[in-house]
Amino acid sequence: MKQISLRLQLIIGLLFITFYCIAQTTSRETTLIDKDWRFNFGHPFDTEKDFGHGEAYFSYLAKTGNGDGPAAAFFDDRAWRLLDLPHDWAVEQSFSEEGSFSHGFKEAGKGFSEKSIGWYRKKIAIPQEDLGRIITLKFDGVFRNSKVFFNGYFLGTEESGYDSFEYDVTEYVNYGGENTISVRVDASMEEGWFYEGVGIYRHVWLQKTNPLHVAQNGTYITTEVHDGYAMVTALATIINKGNYKGDIEVTQTVLNPEREKVTSVTGKGRAPGFYKNTDFTLILKVTNPKLWDLETPNLYCLVTEVKQNGRIIDRYETMFGIRSFRFDPETGFYLNGKSVKLKGTNNHQDHAGVGTAIPDELQYWRIKQLKDMGSNAYRCSHHPPTPELLEACDRLGMLVIDETRLMGINEYHLGSLKRMIERDRNHPSIICWSVGNEEWNIEGNVIGERITQTMQEYSHSLDSTRPVTVGISSGFRSGISSVVEVMGYNYLGNGDIDAHRNDFKQQPGMGTEEGSTFATRGVYFTDDDKHYKAAYDKKPRPTFYSIEEGWRFYAERPYLSGMFIWTGFDYRGEPTPYGWPSVTSYFGMMDVCGFPKHNVYYLKSWWGNEPVLHIFPHWNWKGKEGEEIPVWIYSNCDEVELFLNNKSFGRKKIEQNGHLEWQVPYKAGELKAIGYKNGKRLLTQIQKTTGEAKNVKLTPHKKTLTDSNDLAIVIIEVTDKNGLHVATADNDITFSIKGGGKIIGVGNGNPTSLEKDKFLDVISLINIEGLQEQGLSSEELPNLLVSYPDSNWKEAFKDRNYKNQSPSYVYKGNFELIGGLDKDKITFFYKKIGTQAVVFVNGNKVTASAEDPLKFVLTASVLKKGTNTIHIVATPVYKKHDWDVVNTNPGVIQVITPAEDWHRKLFNGYAQLIVQADGSGDEIILTAKSENLKSTEIVIKQ
Ligand code: GAL
Repeated sequence: MKQISLRLQLIIGLLFITFYCIAQTTSRETTLIDKDWRFNFGHPFDTEKDFGHGEAYFSYLAKTGNGDGPAAAFFDDRAWRLLDLPHDWAVEQSFSEEGSFSHGFKEAGKGFSEKSIGWYRKKIAIPQEDLGRIITLKFDGVFRNSKVFFNGYFLGTEESGYDSFEYDVTEYVNYGGENTISVRVDASMEEGWFYEGVGIYRHVWLQKTNPLHVAQNGTYITTEVHDGYAMVTALATIINKGNYKGDIEVTQTVLNPEREKVTSVTGKGRAPGFYKNTDFTLILKVTNPKLWDLETPNLYCLVTEVKQNGRIIDRYETMFGIRSFRFDPETGFYLNGKSVKLKGTNNHQDHAGVGTAIPDELQYWRIKQLKDMGSNAYRCSHHPPTPELLEACDRLGMLVIDETRLMGINEYHLGSLKRMIERDRNHPSIICWSVGNEEWNIEGNVIGERITQTMQEYSHSLDSTRPVTVGISSGFRSGISSVVEVMGYNYLGNGDIDAHRNDFKQQPGMGTEEGSTFATRGVYFTDDDKHYKAAYDKKPRPTFYSIEEGWRFYAERPYLSGMFIWTGFDYRGEPTPYGWPSVTSYFGMMDVCGFPKHNVYYLKSWWGNEPVLHIFPHWNWKGKEGEEIPVWIYSNCDEVELFLNNKSFGRKKIEQNGHLEWQVPYKAGELKAIGYKNGKRLLTQIQKTTGEAKNVKLTPHKKTLTDSNDLAIVIIEVTDKNGLHVATADNDITFSIKGGGKIIGVGNGNPTSLEKDKFLDVISLINIEGLQEQGLSSEELPNLLVSYPDSNWKEAFKDRNYKNQSPSYVYKGNFELIGGLDKDKITFFYKKIGTQAVVFVNGNKVTASAEDPLKFVLTASVLKKGTNTIHIVATPVYKKHDWDVVNTNPGVIQVITPAEDWHRKLFNGYAQLIVQADGSGDEIILTAKSENLKSTEIVIKQ
């Protein structure tokens, strides 16, 4: 009995192991590898500052595997900064007038050679069981011109700062051991004329699959909606990177938005040849589909399973939506057969505090702010976005124009367009591919016409379901605009839209850019000296139009599908109409933090579905008593009556798509608006004169975080003794954080603020200079430093005879410390210059740390300001072959100067802080304080 049970146990054990191994080697695994990257700045042309990269006699382009400097697997990066992706190093830098206007004057990238090259390194373990799988590194986007190495092997260069790309590393893997990813990012060239960030600013993934698997972006789903059912055409491209030659089965299963199985179909065929692809196209019928639309963005999931010998060897999920749409040249855009006016915004991809390194939750939050404004469409100006942005648009019901970076017909251009379309074509939110924007050299001529036609046809060959547009700013009625499928008008002032339309009656059209207005949040009187623009919606320049003028034009013309405002959010760079020291744009409906300017309420009134009554400005105008203050009302009520301290200023009717204005002589008190609909009082809004700031108030957008990457966007404001928001406050608020989270950025929306976006420890690496040596007669290493004859010192390693070395050597070098010994953390990262070694700093023996025998934490007691001396006594390394290279660099001193406390001034009443969970605790406690104000503390749960 006992024996049987033992045998049974053994069988179960074996079965488990076999099963485990099969599961390990067959199913697809995709893991986010954003955590724990080492980072340091390199140099574009000084190879010494680029850690010797590219110096090797046989370079990595000469012999495979010859990545040198940080590209080599064995490079010592222990002293480098440790960080998590996404990472934008530009946002971490100071501002400088020497910086780039278009990139918001940050001291990084073009023109800043010390801050234009970034090296990222990460170690990953890949188990022995993965041998036989295909291992792929996937990058969502790196700005820019990145070179990737894996264990010293050069994988490739990706020029684009916006395209997603991947590398197959299968053959280079050290199975059962450690592997090193090195990425050299070169941002010494800009692509756009707007802030682009620099670094690995999007996610990186590690993917493991069976050799026979669904190819990269290998599904393409199109839907045809009929009465009561939809036909779903699902194409799966299978690639074979192995030797299997038999039959395979591909099963496509549709899951409904509740993730229940709806229908399934299987196709059979031969496995593709070695490194070849085969397409399987299967058609599925979904009855009573829940359509994807703006109010209920239902998402279905297609599960693609690949079977070999009856066993599932790959499982791949694609989210998709069932919906129909079309652009009509007479009557505009239709979604699921219903006419929908496109109420869009253009946006770049940066946010206050974090630059372009936008975590997923913040991505979602930004799209949600636009949606809450009544917007239903988003133009990715002027490049492909991160995939998470499109996911947010799918989930929230936001239509998208997806745009490629540069017009052209060669690999650089069409290759990029292909990658964008193949990556993005399953997103139900995307309604149009944009193949260009304001290409001034070709817009109005035959070259533009030809290039557009080629790009358009090429787009159709990759996706037959969406039309193509180009944003055009000059030369309506000629060139690109005469051939593009959906005309993209950039600005009313740039040409006669109606005249173009009369010439091209079969061509649908939309305003791909409109507005370009200037406004500073919370400012009501323009002050050009301070670079502040009043936030009333005025015509910005003679040939540009206000938001209201623009919207009226588009709203009145059914043939126009809608318009995209320039822009939804302010962004870094393009601080038109000013320059330094303004560092962000003024165009946004919201500022860089997402705090609304008043135009948001104009749009809510005429784009949204909720009743709106919004009165501005604030009513704190001490010193302006008796002066007339322009009071504006945005509302979709029929009429509004305005009162100051209960005295009526009259009741006025609001025109469709209009607003109301009064001039009100200032007197402290209460400004009140009452909105009437169908003659009945519907809404009341009040602006009250407030008292002085008394309390700090923190409001997170959510109080419970769901995972270790989740975050809370915290509004910081101050209130008076009655709890009223003080709109004019500019207090400097200091923050501290405890528990399982960290602050990742601060901002306040002030276009001229040169305050820090991030408060980070500063890491300086100090080399040991003037290394000298003396050969010693004993191989015993000393416990105390003795004095060595001065006359015996000579340059270390110079003319060393490796065949006849001394039993041990003492080395002496210096390093300089500029002070800060009381607060700085100073560590010596020793690199082996001998087999055994002891280290003395200023004569004191120092001990290695427990976790790393080559790391010495140096306390203030052994250090001094100025020149410090380090002695290393070590037994020598012997060369096996004459050509062996022996390390002669003793290591580096790392000085970490802790960051000052995070702080930020309020700008016209508000600032914003982003707090991210790190998974290390159940709660995060955030405290905010400011001189003369009552401080506050909030708890965010995880
Ligand atoms: C447009 C351009 C945008 C932005 C804007 C600023 O011409 O397409 O990217 O530069 O002007 O006004």
